[in-house]
Amino acid sequence: MKEDNEERIFKEVPNGKVGWKSPSNIALVKYWGKKPGQVPANASLSFTLRESVTETTIEFEPASGEGFKLEFFLDGMKNEKFADKTVKYFESISNSFPFIKQLDFKIRSKNSFPHSAGIASSASGMSALALCLCEIERKYFDEFSSDEKFFKRASYFARLGSGSACRSVYGGFVSWGEIEGVRNTSNMFGNKINKNIDSVFDTFQDSILIVDAGEKEVSSSLGHSLMNSNPYSLGRLKQAGENMIKLMEVIKTGDLGGFVKIVESEALSLHAMMMTSNPYFLLMKPNTISIIEKVREYRGETGIQACFTLDAGPNVHLIYPDENKKEVRDFIGSELLKLTVNETVIHDEVGQGPERIAY
Ligand code: PMV
Repeated sequence: MKEDNEERIFKEVPNGKVGWKSPSNIALVKYWGKKPGQVPANASLSFTLRESVTETTIEFEPASGEGFKLEFFLDGMKNEKFADKTVKYFESISNSFPFIKQLDFKIRSKNSFPHSAGIASSASGMSALALCLCEIERKYFDEFSSDEKFFKRASYFARLGSGSACRSVYGGFVSWGEIEGVRNTSNMFGNKINKNIDSVFDTFQDSILIVDAGEKEVSSSLGHSLMNSNPYSLGRLKQAGENMIKLMEVIKTGDLGGFVKIVESEALSLHAMMMTSNPYFLLMKPNTISIIEKVREYRGETGIQACFTLDAGPNVHLIYPDENKKEVRDFIGSELLKLTVNETVIHDEVGQGPERIAY
């Protein structure tokens, strides 16, 4: 991103506060594997959630010493791990936001979902943080910047914090990664799919079944790096490219049968990559598999196009059209809840994207 950094230094350093609420997203075509500079090895496509959000506010004041200081509060409690991570992130992008060094920060963040729910809190958290930084910039240096530019820039910097976070800056269906022959696609930021999308997807449902509430067993960065030596990675990249093209067509036509095939295959391919890495990770639990089997059976018996997808963990996202909400929720209650931890399910759906909460 080009910029004139000279102009992004405060002459008079202000006190202030900004805040954004930003959602998580669930990938349908999975990003797995990356090149240096947070460049994805393949293009991915997700939809943004509505209920699973991070709310972040940043209070800032003139720096008390050389460089910046930062405190991080997660759910009201001081969190050193998040503070260290955020310091590293701010340092890594301070050439683009030189005013960072002139400020001290108090960051307060809270998630609407439990930390261990297997919902990508890095996507909601990093997008909220990037939006806040871009908000400070817009407020003092770029007042007249267009919304389009603002969100593109936020997506670019969210990506540098956590790849999939760049998709959370927009609502609805969002792609990330260059796709040959498709305009407006980039490895640098997410791209909201505005046109060519059947209305059935505007209200798609995602019920997240919590099979295991433990900490993540494999960090995303380790997982991505293991793709460099995975013997099947070239085949996987080819498959992901083909699935992107197929999925774009399917969401255009509303072909739910085609949608289910691609989405489930993507989830299993992601896990196949983890199982064939060295060291390997087997992240599905017995109940993950039981739920998958029940979902397939249910679809076979009822013809309702509900399907599963998985992140890099054991919890199952059951996704289905809004018009089947009642039947599918009944099915969850009678067949699936007993396979979750303490009957935990988080009902979510396609959301409209981030919202500003403080200025
Ligand atoms: O954004 P990261 O580095 O946490 O990686 C996310 C990887 C998956 O969630 C498994 C897939 C995706 O595209 O979101």
